Amino acid sequence: MITYILYTALAGLALLVLLPRLKTRYFFQDLSFAISSIKIAISLNTIKKRKPFYSILDGFLDKVAKHPHKKFIIFEESSYTYSQADKESNKVARALSTHAGLKEGDTVALFLGNEPHFVWLWLALTKLGCISSLLNCNIRSKSLMHCFSCCDAKFLVAGADLKQAVEEVLPTLTEQGVRVFILSEHCEVEGIESLSDKVQLTSDQPLSPQLRANVNIKSPALYIYTSGTTGLPKAAVIDHEKLWMASFFQSIAAVRSDDVLFMYLPLYHSSGFLIGLCGAIERGITVVLTRKFSASNFWNDCRKYNVTVIQYIGEIMRYLCNTPKRDNDKDHKVRLALGNGLRSDTWEDFLQRYGDICICECYGATEGNVGFVNYCGKVGAIGKENFLHKMGYKYALIKYDTEKEEPVKNSKGFCIEVPKGETGLFVGKIEKRAPFGGYAKNHQQTEKKKLRDVFVKGDLYFNSGDLLKIDKEGFLFFQDRIGDTFR
Ligand SMILES: *[C@@H]1O[C@H](CO)[C@@H](O)[C@H](O)[C@H]1NC(C)=O
Repeated sequence: MITYILYTALAGLALLVLLPRLKTRYFFQDLSFAISSIKIAISLNTIKKRKPFYSILDGFLDKVAKHPHKKFIIFEESSYTYSQADKESNKVARALSTHAGLKEGDTVALFLGNEPHFVWLWLALTKLGCISSLLNCNIRSKSLMHCFSCCDAKFLVAGADLKQAVEEVLPTLTEQGVRVFILSEHCEVEGIESLSDKVQLTSDQPLSPQLRANVNIKSPALYIYTSGTTGLPKAAVIDHEKLWMASFFQSIAAVRSDDVLFMYLPLYHSSGFLIGLCGAIERGITVVLTRKFSASNFWNDCRKYNVTVIQYIGEIMRYLCNTPKRDNDKDHKVRLALGNGLRSDTWEDFLQRYGDICICECYGATEGNVGFVNYCGKVGAIGKENFLHKMGYKYALIKYDTEKEEPVKNSKGFCIEVPKGETGLFVGKIEKRAPFGGYAKNHQQTEKKKLRDVFVKGDLYFNSGDLLKIDKEGFLFFQDRIGDTFR
C-alpha cells in the first residue's frame, strides 16, 4: 500500500516536471519511462540497503520459492522448472566444492556454448561466492590463453564438445597449475577431470548462504570479454551492482512475467547474459535457449515455443529480412524485440514483414557507465534522452577531430560540447552512481577509456568511442565508431 502511494506521488511529481512539455509528441512515453525508471531506482536502492546483501542469485531463489514449477529453461526437447534449475545448480556447486575445493572469491573460467549447464554452472559458482569468467567458446589457442589469463582463474570448466580446444592449450594450463574440468562422464586425457559423473552422484540439497557471506554489491560477479576495434579482447569487470542494473532493462522495456524470451545470442556476451538471462531472472520468466541463431528455424521456433520476446543485434534482423518471404510471416506471438544496432532500412522492412512488433533499441557498452533506451519506437534512434537522465547522469557529446583522432580543445584546454544536431564523441561522467569497472589486469586499457579534465580540472569521463548525434526531440543516433587508440 505504502509503495502504491509512493508511486502515485512520484508519478504526480513526474507529471509536474513534464507538464510544460505536454505539447511534445512523446509526452506519454516520456512519462511512462520516467515512472518505470523511478520504480527501478527505488528497487535498486532497496537492494543496496538490504543486509545481508541481496544478490541476483537471491532474486532467483525467491523466484524458485514463488513459482517452483514454472518453466525456467526450455532447451531442445527438454525443459527445466525454476526448482529443477535450483537443484541442478546445487549439485554442480557441491561437486565443485568437494572435488575442486572451490571457495568464496575464487575465479572460474567457463568455456562452453549455450546449453543449460552454462546457467547451472553460473548459479553454482554464485552460490559458492565465486566469480565466473565467461570465455567466448569460439576462441582457440593463443586468444584462448590470452583471455583465460586476464582474470587470474585457477579453474577452467569446459563443455564436452570443446575437449579438443582444451587439449590444445592443456600443457600451458597444467604448467600454470590450473585445474581443468570437462562436462562429460569420463575423460581419459591426463590433466582433464570429468565433472558430469561427480555431479550426478551429489546431493541436490541447498547450500548455506554462509559460503558467500563476504560477497557484497561491489564484489566482482563476472568477467565479460569485449573486443574493441583494435587489439586483443579485454575482460570487463562486472560487479553485482552492474548485474542488478542490467537485469532491470527488461522491466524498462515492459517485459511481463508471462512472457517467453527467445535466447539464441551467446551467453558469454553482455546482451545474452546480462540483459537476457539476468533480466529473465529478475522478471521470473521462461527462457527458450538455443545453441545458436538459425535464420531458417527462427520463426518456427518462435511458433513452437510461443515466444513473445526476442533479443537482437542488427545483423540478425538483416538475416531474417533476407530469408525468402512466406505466407505465415506474421503468424507468431512475438510482441517485443530488444537489442541494438538495428538500421533504419532493416527496421522498416522488419516491421512490414513480421507485423506490429514493438522494437526497443538500446545503447550502452558492456563496460559503459551511461545507457539509453529508445522507448518510443522511433525508427533509427538508439535511445532517447529523458529529463530523468539529465538529472541523474552527466554525459555529453564533445567535438572530435577524426583526422587527429582526438577531442577538440578550446583555448583553455577543455573539451567543447557540440550543439544539438551535430555529431560528437559520447562521454559519460564517471562517478559513484555511474561507475566504470575497468578491465581486469589491464591498467593501460582501463586508463585509455578514461578522459580527464574534460570540462573542468580534475573531472573524469568514460570515453565510449562512439560518435553520436542528438536531435531536437532528444533522440540519439549512432554515427560512427572510432578506434580505441588514443594518442
Ligand atoms: C502455445 O500456446 C498454445 C495456445 O495458447 C497452446 O495450446 C500450446 O500448448 C502452447 N505451447 C507451448 C510449447 O507452450
